[in-house]
Parts: sequence; structure tokens; C-alpha cells
Amino acid sequence: MQTTQTIALPFPTHMDVPDAEREHLVELLNARLADTADLYSQIKQAHWSVKGPNFFQLHLMFDQLAGEIFPFIDSIAERATALGGVAAGTSRMAAAHSTLPEYPVDAVEGQRHLAALIDRYAIFTSVIRKAIDVSDEHHDRSTADLFTEISRVADKQLWFLEAHVQY
Ligand SMILES: [Fe+2]
Repeated sequence: MQTTQTIALPFPTHMDVPDAEREHLVELLNARLADTADLYSQIKQAHWSVKGPNFFQLHLMFDQLAGEIFPFIDSIAERATALGGVAAGTSRMAAAHSTLPEYPVDAVEGQRHLAALIDRYAIFTSVIRKAIDVSDEHHDRSTADLFTEISRVADKQLWFLEAHVQY
């Protein structure tokens, strides 16, 4: 897993979280920001690319998943900023630091997209769950709460995807 270099903590704040903790938290938030922005764009890629007999249902479901993930990009970035950091949130920054593999550009049929997204959600739900514990280790319940909310939504979305292939 890559980290997000030297822009972790340039600004002071009156928030009573020690600088050393804030530095780790901003780095953590930027790492998960990259993953979340990347995941969002990959779900959209599936939304645009899927074809086959289940096209319309999957096209709609993928858009719903993407729509539920999208607000978390802003929430993570703004938590990094509130902690005195600089959010590393452009597409190029996300691409450079994401934990996820690139989406298969040749995926067409629904089952292929479902498998590709399940693989990526397996990684995403794992790193988000770990981020809850890391936030707690740095004594920031607010950041842990944000990651807990994301974790609950992403776990549910993984279930939605898996329910299509478990029968
Ligand atoms: Fe669309």
C-alpha cells in the first residue's frame, strides 16, 4: 500500500488532536481517499460498459452503488482538511496511490463485471475496516466513525454484488 508523501500536515488547527496523531490520520485519510475515488470511477466504468441479458438491471444497480460511494469522497477529503492536512484528491493523485488494481477495460458481460467489482470491494472493505482500527489507535473517534459508516455501506454493497453470483 502506497502512502501519500509529504503534504500530510502543513496547517495548524485549534482542534485538540496532537500534531503527531493528526499527521498519521491525514495520511490515512488520503490513502483511503485515493481508494474511494478510484472505486467510484471503477463502478461507473462498469455502469457504462456492461452488456448482455441483465444489462438494464446491472446498469442501474452499478449506478446506485456509485451514487452511494460518491459522497464519501468529499467526506474523507474534508476530514483530512479539518485535521489540518491537504486532501490529495485529483484523479491523478488517486490513480497514483490507490490500493485497487485497474479495472479490466475488456469486460463486457455482466458476470465479468460482477466478478471484477467483487474483487475490488473485497480489497476496499478490508482496507476501510482496517482504517477504523487505525483511527482508533490515533484516538480519533470522529475519523473512526466516518470509516465505520463507509464500512457498513460498502459491506452492504458487497452483499448486493455477491447475491448475483451465489445461487
Ligand atoms: Fe449513467
